[in-house]
Amino acid sequence: MTGVPAVVAVRVDVPPAPYDVLVGSGILGEVATTVGDRRRVAVVSQARVAELYAPRLLEVLPSADLFLMGDGEDHKTIATVGDLARRFAAAGLLRDDAVVALGGGVVGDTAGFAAAVYHRGVDVVQVPTTLLAQVDSAIGGKTGVNLPEGKNLVGAFHQPIGVVADVATLADLPAREYRSGLGEVAKYALLEGVGGELDTLLREESTAVLGREPTVLADLVRRCATIKARVVAGDPEERTGSRATLNLGHTLAHALETAGRHRLTHGEAVAVGLVFAGALAEATGRIDAATADRYRSLPAALGLPVRVPAGPAGDAAGGGTDGASEGDDGVEVGSDALLALMRRDKKAAGGFTFVLPGPGGVERVDDPPAGALARAFAAVGVRG
Ligand code: NAD
Ligand code: GLY
Repeated sequence: MTGVPAVVAVRVDVPPAPYDVLVGSGILGEVATTVGDRRRVAVVSQARVAELYAPRLLEVLPSADLFLMGDGEDHKTIATVGDLARRFAAAGLLRDDAVVALGGGVVGDTAGFAAAVYHRGVDVVQVPTTLLAQVDSAIGGKTGVNLPEGKNLVGAFHQPIGVVADVATLADLPAREYRSGLGEVAKYALLEGVGGELDTLLREESTAVLGREPTVLADLVRRCATIKARVVAGDPEERTGSRATLNLGHTLAHALETAGRHRLTHGEAVAVGLVFAGALAEATGRIDAATADRYRSLPAALGLPVRVPAGPAGDAAGGGTDGASEGDDGVEVGSDALLALMRRDKKAAGGFTFVLPGPGGVERVDDPPAGALARAFAAVGVRG
């Protein structure tokens, strides 16, 4: 059939209500089907994103109101959630109504958490418009906000009733934000392993991926969503440890984001964290040098930073293979400060918790020896 955008559904099989991640190009109108006949709909977004896509959503959701929040990680706060909740109340949003989160991971996490706590929980539809959100944050029900003490320290599991990932929106993303999403894509490829579907796609279609070719993008997002859906279905609330494998590269990433006051994007920080995880796994004898090298070469091939920027003169946003070009977005931080932040990470039970590859696959590893940590820090250019 011509003129009808193709939609692929990836099922997320979680109790009590499985839902679909719809993936396709030009499919924003699918949000109306997911929302159904709910009386009121609160679309939460940011000015730039709303300008681009809210008209289409409001066209298919005639009863919707638009609620804007600030742009940037600094707005992913309890204050923003309180503000949204008060505005929902003023607009008369009730428990049987719905919230639609239109934007990247910041909107998805914040609006998702507002939906989780408003009236003790209203339905949320995630409409991710960044690559990072389409492949990761919009799927799986993790919602929450930051504290000055650390990332995502306040939150709730609140699964969406549906996710609509329209890859056409990715054409509008700034280059740095697109590349940031590739950090999570690299994580999935490494989780799946060499020779897996995603690894193969990234090797064979790298030009199309970097060129944002819509058909390849839809395939890329579908494959990532399929991996995430499988992991989430196996451990929806991260109780058995299997969902924690999705945090590959994230222990260092969260510390880098906090240390750098979020001047590294999440995906950039994850890319450096993947290199660190590969080096730490090698230093603890869990993987060989060739496998560790894939943890560096894949993010590098996707134009992501593979070293911590060297202080105020460093710039992780510079891309390239070493992330060390000039700029003023650097993260001036040593290993002691990063270790202190990692100890505070909510996933650590008093010590240091990492997710590392090994002979039995990717798994949680607690408290690796100091010497191995020092070698891993050196691999990403962090001094002691
Ligand atoms: P983001 O939400 O800050 O979006 C990046 C920028 O792109 C913003 O300025 C946004 O306004 C803009 N933007 C969004 N869509 C656009 C489009 N189509 N065209 C042009 N501009 C657009 O960043 P992000 O990378 O999407 O998300 C990062 C957040 O996701 C972090 O807070 C991170 O902690 C969170 N996260 C959550 C999970 C989870 O499981 N909940 C997983 C990974 C990351
Ligand atoms: N992004 C990690 C998770 O959803 O569990």
